[in-house]
Amino acid sequence: MEQLAATLRSPRAPLAPPTTGRIAVVGCGYWGKNLVRVFHQLGALHSVCESHPAGMEVARQTAPDVPVLSEYEAVLRDPQIDGVVIATPAETHFRLGIQALEAGKHLYVEKPLALNYREGLTLVRQAQAKGRQLMVGHILEYHPAIIELNRRVRAGQLGTLQYVYSNRLNLGKVRREENILWSFAPHDIAVILRLVGDLPLEVCATGGAYLQPNIADVTITNLLFDKGVRGHIFVSWLHPYKEQKLVVVGSSSMAVFDDTLADRKLTVYDQGIDWVDGQPVPRKKDGEVVTLARVEPLKAEAEQFLHSIQTGEPPITDGASALANLEVLQAAQRSLSLHGQPVALGVAPARAWETL
Ligand SMILES: NC(=O)c1ccc[n+]([C@@H]2O[C@H](COP(=O)([O-])OP(=O)(O)OC[C@H]3O[C@@H](n4cnc5c(N)ncnc54)[C@H](O)[C@@H]3O)[C@@H](O)[C@H]2O)c1
Repeated sequence: MEQLAATLRSPRAPLAPPTTGRIAVVGCGYWGKNLVRVFHQLGALHSVCESHPAGMEVARQTAPDVPVLSEYEAVLRDPQIDGVVIATPAETHFRLGIQALEAGKHLYVEKPLALNYREGLTLVRQAQAKGRQLMVGHILEYHPAIIELNRRVRAGQLGTLQYVYSNRLNLGKVRREENILWSFAPHDIAVILRLVGDLPLEVCATGGAYLQPNIADVTITNLLFDKGVRGHIFVSWLHPYKEQKLVVVGSSSMAVFDDTLADRKLTVYDQGIDWVDGQPVPRKKDGEVVTLARVEPLKAEAEQFLHSIQTGEPPITDGASALANLEVLQAAQRSLSLHGQPVALGVAPARAWETL
């Protein structure tokens, strides 16, 4: 933890002069094809690197005028490429990411940044040493509903934050290396840390592995923050229907973010419990649907990477926030292996979370 704070306090090396932000996307699978699409739409896609013929074909269809390379070394060698976007399976993130930074590229890594904190820290340090941007794909931080929700929480419009929970449930996509916690929960952790504005003091996680030995399909992680704020994260890829719901309970009102709805994604309820003559009386109101900017979160995320390359300003989802996320994941993983025993985290890093 002290190491993290020290890393965050150490000065960044000067950035190279602004560039045009020519991007190579590495991996054009289930998720990478979306990144290929948005960087192409933004006119910033230099090339796609994909090792499998099926992925190469998807890349050609998605961005017909862009070269598709099969060798990662060709990306690393090309001086025209400023930034590399890693959308390969999580177990390759560290190796491919460190190579990109060593080659002097700016780096955007899909979540999770790495599969352990130590490797994440090495990536962050290497980016600092090379004066390059490092960004992690915590897409919800670019979602207009989360930006608005965070604005309201910061402004005290929900009163004092008391409880936050996030359910991310679906059938598939089942991973073979990382468990459901590392696959799904980075999104929920990113949002909860942003809303609370701090790291938890301790976490406990339990779960079950039904499809593959020792790879949890379902986990529930409880987080305890300072001042009694609590949250839980329920994730599963073994669930009959898709649910992506975040509930925020404040002392004066409540909010629900439902990402499965086409519209009405964010609803605020002026509800709570009032004390009348010493008795707790529920105050029930209809929810108010919040009007949101029509922004595609992935496009906003891609624009952030280009902006950071061009201006030298760190992204919202920078190395520090990626490390905080890994720290919670690692503590939850440890608790999972201890059958739910609480695992303490150290002191909060020197990082202002209120910048969103
Ligand atoms: N932000 C999100 O909401 C979101 C959603 C899904 C997945 N993801 C993340 O995206 C990443 C990719 O997941 P996915 O579901 O697309 O996986 P996937 O297996 O469908 O696709 C990965 C692709 O990378 C290619 N690849 C692997 N190694 C390569 C290499 N060295 N060089 C070139 N190509 C290589 C594979 O051939 C494959 O096409 C993961 O980190 C995952 O966690 C993020």
